[in-house]
Amino acid sequence: MLRTHYSSEITEELNGKNVKVAGWVWEIKDLGGIKFLWIRDREGIVQVTAPKRKVAPEVFKLIPKLRSEDVVAVEGVVNFTPKAKLGFEIIPERLEILSRAESPLPLDPTGKVKAELDTRLDNRFMDLRRPEVMAMFKIRSNVFKAVRDFFHGEGFIEIHTPKIIATATEGGTELFPMKYFEKDAFLAQSPQLYKQMMMASGLDRVYEIAPIFRAEEHNTTRHLNEAWSIDAEMAFIENEEEVMNLLERLVAYTISYVREHNERELKVLNFELEEPKLPFPRVTYSKALEILADLGKTVEWGDDVDTEGEKLLGRYMLENENAPLYFIYQYPSEAKPFYIMKYDGKPEICRAFDLEYRGVEITSGGQREHRVDILVEQIREKGLNPANFEFYLRAFRYGMPPHGGFGLGAERLIKQMLDLANIREVILFPRDRRRLTP
Ligand code: AMO
Repeated sequence: MLRTHYSSEITEELNGKNVKVAGWVWEIKDLGGIKFLWIRDREGIVQVTAPKRKVAPEVFKLIPKLRSEDVVAVEGVVNFTPKAKLGFEIIPERLEILSRAESPLPLDPTGKVKAELDTRLDNRFMDLRRPEVMAMFKIRSNVFKAVRDFFHGEGFIEIHTPKIIATATEGGTELFPMKYFEKDAFLAQSPQLYKQMMMASGLDRVYEIAPIFRAEEHNTTRHLNEAWSIDAEMAFIENEEEVMNLLERLVAYTISYVREHNERELKVLNFELEEPKLPFPRVTYSKALEILADLGKTVEWGDDVDTEGEKLLGRYMLENENAPLYFIYQYPSEAKPFYIMKYDGKPEICRAFDLEYRGVEITSGGQREHRVDILVEQIREKGLNPANFEFYLRAFRYGMPPHGGFGLGAERLIKQMLDLANIREVILFPRDRRRLTP
């Protein structure tokens, strides 16, 4: 074993004991009779102090030969002393170079020299060596852990549905077409049809965490062509409010989990993550248009609220309601997909909602139309051919309970949670209009 402890695991009980640490050379300082080496691992930095009279000559001589970002392993004795910046140091007995780093480096992992996002993404493996970047991905890992914990605690079953599919769900555009032997196929935009079909199976409450593919033409700071979606679907609901209730608790649980388990990472990012207050305010679509009109922004009833409108509303909700998170609901039926249920007696509005976080949509969801004759009608109304949806409609003909669900974009959630400027920050290898490698 080349490592017995991560840097963060060296505590006072280890004083005087032998440990092995390993990682990348962060910094070297040569004061002649005493040489210092700082090694960075996943959890932080350790200081190795080599006074000439205390260490073996071969170790002493090797330190000045090290270069930034070489990979090294050190075995030595822990010494807690107030003289060391971190409170302790390791007096090395053995030092081994495991791998050499070429020079110059493609970017500066200490972050002292700033790099463009493109350079960072081209060299993502090295970008991740920067503590802030690594912090974001540790937070991301815990977001997924929290989501899974939450769903299992609520009696949801994890499912996995196909990503090579035959029909569009979220409108005809934004699809990646592909050849599937003799047939035309697409990469899945959403597990929508499949998670709904599971409601006819009796699984009742299901979730899926999987990539979604959207052929977004434009490069924006909130769109990816491959994103991770947290999808849920639940049966035997009376209305969309039950879905909104589950979603807000999921988001609040996830934020609390990160606050509790990523204290160090939030500190590295110098970010104060606020505990969200439940329930999140609910704003009807019509009310949102009124607020926007008061703010000088006109949106025609039936139209989507554009990015600028969303931002304005986000600021308004934060300043007036102290609410970074809020729902918009009771959308016009014409603005939402065929599978959403309309209100009885008020078919111009439907049981769809979006959840907004600091003025950016992070989730869409709603109650679905489970009555097959009405569903077929709604497919037609959107100019689609019910014959193409036969595999889906079948599931509605033999006992389909009322149901609803949502799709929560993982990158949108993390971006907005950490108030970051660009969605590309929070996915390891973003796929956008130009980027297909690495
Ligand atoms: P929608 O199309 O609104 O709804 O997508 C749901 C959520 O997925 C995320 N998202 C994206 N994230 C990054 N880049 C993209 N290009 C992108 N597209 C979508 C967003 C968005 O809120 N089937 C419905 C959900 C449902 O009703 O259950 C759907 O896909 O966070």
